[in-house]
Amino acid sequence: MKVDGKDLRPIWLNQDPEIVNVIDQRFLPHEFIVADLETVNQVITAIKEMYVRGAPLIGVTGAYGVYIAAVSAPGGLVTDDHMTAECDRLKAARPTAVNLSWGVDRVLERMLNENSDSARVDAALDEARIIEEEEAENCRQIGLHGLPLIQEISKKKNNEPVNILTHCNAGWLACIEYGTATAPMYTAFDNNIDIHVWVDETRPLNQGSRLTAWELGKHGIKHTVIADNTGGHLMQHGMVDMVIVGTDRTTHTGDVANKIGTYLKALAAKDNNIPFYVALPSSTFDWVLKDGMDIPIEERNPDEIRYVQGLDQNRTTNVLVPPADSPAGNYAFDVTPARLVTGFITERGTCKASEKDIMALFPEKL
Ligand code: MRU
Repeated sequence: MKVDGKDLRPIWLNQDPEIVNVIDQRFLPHEFIVADLETVNQVITAIKEMYVRGAPLIGVTGAYGVYIAAVSAPGGLVTDDHMTAECDRLKAARPTAVNLSWGVDRVLERMLNENSDSARVDAALDEARIIEEEEAENCRQIGLHGLPLIQEISKKKNNEPVNILTHCNAGWLACIEYGTATAPMYTAFDNNIDIHVWVDETRPLNQGSRLTAWELGKHGIKHTVIADNTGGHLMQHGMVDMVIVGTDRTTHTGDVANKIGTYLKALAAKDNNIPFYVALPSSTFDWVLKDGMDIPIEERNPDEIRYVQGLDQNRTTNVLVPPADSPAGNYAFDVTPARLVTGFITERGTCKASEKDIMALFPEKL
């Protein structure tokens, strides 16, 4: 996507092809810092500490991580044992987004078909690049399939602004291009539909106010940052026309794991008859788990709750909010049951949140 006129993705291969670069998203929007990843440990840290985050980007970073494991293999020996052990470590970096193991396993499988060390390195890089491009295209398609949903509301409202609420950051920073939840917004905006986005700030790490607001602003999309608990009130007063969120893992039965707080938005949307859509590429479906309650929910460092980050005198700073000795609990995701989801927007089109409808869209997964 363009930022200040420049094409930008959240991950790219450095001019030195043994280094992968990522935007260190921890410091956005106030500081733009690029990190070098040249060891598997650095890739793991980048995923764990959320320099990179968002399910599709975690998947692509994991895919490049396999390449890093190959290209930095001790003595240049890209053995099965080395690769399998490094891939296990990569996959353990974050538990909820299913894209991570999907991306890592796909690159591993492709490269292990090769016999020589150098062919393995080349295959790993090639597959990581293919995944990156596929995910960019998937998001573009999600935008095209989501467009009619926004168009229809716009028509019903006689071209008055369509108010869309979103939670967390499921934008291009979380993917490669366009985003998932934001793809229909970008596509609608580019097609001259008047939209306005309610951006949940998304405590504790504020991916909404830091990242989604930044992205939308750079594209010229009208938006308003709101405290996480505001959505229900807006819905009761007719100020939200639809909700679109992303997901870290969605079971093939339609249960949706996404950033903590998503479930409460879905409940409020249901109570107010507001369509609640989840946008995702097929890499985010879990084709094995049937029950969303079985999705592993990441618990993160309580300090992310206790401290708030912001700009102070031109420096990004953390400040303590609760009493220093109060314990905090940091559950990173929750699960919205399929019954609260109006539909999915995928690269193959839209469907209802039921096993039958999902499998009809992806019959090869049966
Ligand atoms: O903890 P994060 O920032 O990785 O969580 C991200 C989300 O919850 C996103 O909504 C989800 O990954 C979808 S990204 C297209």
